[in-house]
Amino acid sequence: MTSSSTRFDLAVDLARRAGDVLRPGLGRASVEHKGPLELVTEFDRASEHLIIEGVAAAFPTDGVLAEEGGARPGEAWRWIIDPLDGTTNFAHGIPHFAVSIAGEDRGVIEFGVVYDPMRDELFAARRGEGTLLNETRQHVSATATLADSLLVTGFPYDLDRNPENNLNLYARLAMQSRGVRRLGSAALDLAYVAAARFDGYWELRLAPWDLAAGLLLVTEAGGVVSRVDGRPDPLRAPASVAASNGRIHVALLQALRQ
Ligand code: IPD
Ligand code: CA
Ligand code: CA
Repeated sequence: MTSSSTRFDLAVDLARRAGDVLRPGLGRASVEHKGPLELVTEFDRASEHLIIEGVAAAFPTDGVLAEEGGARPGEAWRWIIDPLDGTTNFAHGIPHFAVSIAGEDRGVIEFGVVYDPMRDELFAARRGEGTLLNETRQHVSATATLADSLLVTGFPYDLDRNPENNLNLYARLAMQSRGVRRLGSAALDLAYVAAARFDGYWELRLAPWDLAAGLLLVTEAGGVVSRVDGRPDPLRAPASVAASNGRIHVALLQALRQ
């Protein structure tokens, strides 16, 4: 077994075990505020603790970048972790959230795992090996036009203070597509593009842990990812993403740019 596949197997196991930690907390967590709209719960922290300890036990020299503060410098490998993507849903008892874990080797994302514990859906990709949903190979949709596309997006927590709040783009794309959903988990938004449930997704000003695993799910399922302005490298700060089935990518970027 290569070191990448050992780490991938560990990521799958940790995502499932973190899901077991989160499931009983749905709608029952005590909520704290990180900002006026941004929430965190004891379950975000417990999930992150489980994942980081699991990584440290198996790979003590690996680096970690995790949302709730678990940063650790490392050697070649870095784990990029969102222990609970969709905290607002989770705190309100809405069963749509995920654990997101990506493994990066010297700057290249080698695997991504996004686990939805309420539906027991595990989306996983290894670079060059395709995307699976549980045991089934996934491929992006074949939708050819923006008008026939179902899209998804999200909004930053400081949308009342920062004019780059995506509301103008939301209004524009709602007029040019079949519809735009806001489901509240960037990791699942990307997983759903990979699984052909959505044709495209965009969002501004994200963090690497929102995207790192999901981006690989999309590209390994045959889709295309870029920044919202069309440049490569959605993970470079401030992260921004347009992800699609590829066929609508130019039209999506054009609509976002108008
Ligand atoms: C948030 C979700 C949401 C997105 C926000 C993210 P969190 O992550 O992914 O869909 O619109 O920008 O911050 O805070 O629930 O981990
Ligand atoms: Ca997140
Ligand atoms: Ca989170």
